[in-house]
Amino acid sequence: GIDPNFERNREQVGEEHDVAVWGPVDPPEQLGIRGTHVAVDFDICLADGACLEDCPVDVFEWVDTPGHGESEIKANPTDEEQCIDCMLCVDVCPVDAIDVDPG
Ligand code: SF4
Ligand code: F3S
Repeated sequence: GIDPNFERNREQVGEEHDVAVWGPVDPPEQLGIRGTHVAVDFDICLADGACLEDCPVDVFEWVDTPGHGESEIKANPTDEEQCIDCMLCVDVCPVDAIDVDPG
């Protein structure tokens, strides 16, 4: 699953789709962790979709990731500032790709 200490163990290498990108990245195969308050490890996400279905405030949206081995779309936490820390997404993701850190 996603490293809950990613902010310590990784470096922010940029921003894409309105959220931080935590490296290392080497597209298209290695895409890093996306977002900070709501973080999705794009290298683990396999596009299950439960997070998009269940988030009560629609934090996530699909983005295209052609050429990635796990899936060619990913759940981007575009509206992470809307998060109400309900933890539903963390609970429903089958591969533990999501970390939510109630500040
Ligand atoms: Fe949405 Fe709740 Fe996950 Fe926040 S913790 S992104 S509100 S499902
Ligand atoms: Fe991906 Fe998990 Fe959501 S696999 S689409 S982060 S439920």
